[in-house]
Amino acid sequence: MLPAIHDSGTGEAVLFLHAFTLDASQWDHQVAALSDGMRCVRVDLWGCGGSPPPPDGEPTLDGFAAAVIAALDSRNIDRVAVVGLSMGGYLAFALWRLAPERIRALALCNTRATADAAGPRDDRLAMAEQVEREQSVESIVEPMVTRLLSPGAQVEAHIVDPVRGRIRRCTPAGIAFAQRAMAARPDSTALLASITVPTLVIAGTQDAIIPAPEVLAIAGNIPGARSVELDCGHLSNLELPRAVSDELAAFLVPATMSS
Ligand code: MLT
Repeated sequence: MLPAIHDSGTGEAVLFLHAFTLDASQWDHQVAALSDGMRCVRVDLWGCGGSPPPPDGEPTLDGFAAAVIAALDSRNIDRVAVVGLSMGGYLAFALWRLAPERIRALALCNTRATADAAGPRDDRLAMAEQVEREQSVESIVEPMVTRLLSPGAQVEAHIVDPVRGRIRRCTPAGIAFAQRAMAARPDSTALLASITVPTLVIAGTQDAIIPAPEVLAIAGNIPGARSVELDCGHLSNLELPRAVSDELAAFLVPATMSS
């Protein structure tokens, strides 16, 4: 089943992959900044944004990655630069495992290569059961806001209100799918050395979900990767939209032109 796909602008294609509890609109600022000279393509995870509910079967990011490739095929898009934030980064690794020939560059934001330890994995499965039991995502809205945003951003209505709205647009089935798929994801650390495309890594000094040193460790393991640390929480592109757009613009133009 194809996910919802949003396609703006013309030029070399860039695929944006959103974080957990959000949807493709997380990238609105970057699409506004970049779609003048690039084709900005976004997908919503199943059960989030405009996507249909998750399909039956084992929830995996590899399964969703195959659906993303099918969505690109449906638009006749061959190679893309991939920009993924957090869960979007986990998905970028799944895409690299599945179809590295489709990827011309990678921007990995606020993400990690490692799999979950037992405790966090259990927490994910508990949240999946909770939202299914409650048939609502309401009880996770404020806890997620507190984790996703830095203290300064949590009191900025123009940042926090749209984040709350995006969480509320996710269905319980979408949240449960994402948590189970992330819990099942493999460790991608060994994959990093095989990444041969230009790579940019972005970390947030106030990231409460994936601390900056863990994010930056990715760059240390990818040949030639460049990294940048910004003063923000987990959702770097929403807290510092201009800085992230500028970093992406500077990275993507040379990266997509040269490959
Ligand atoms: C995300 O922002 O995508 C998630 O918080 C990542 C995670 O739960 O590991």
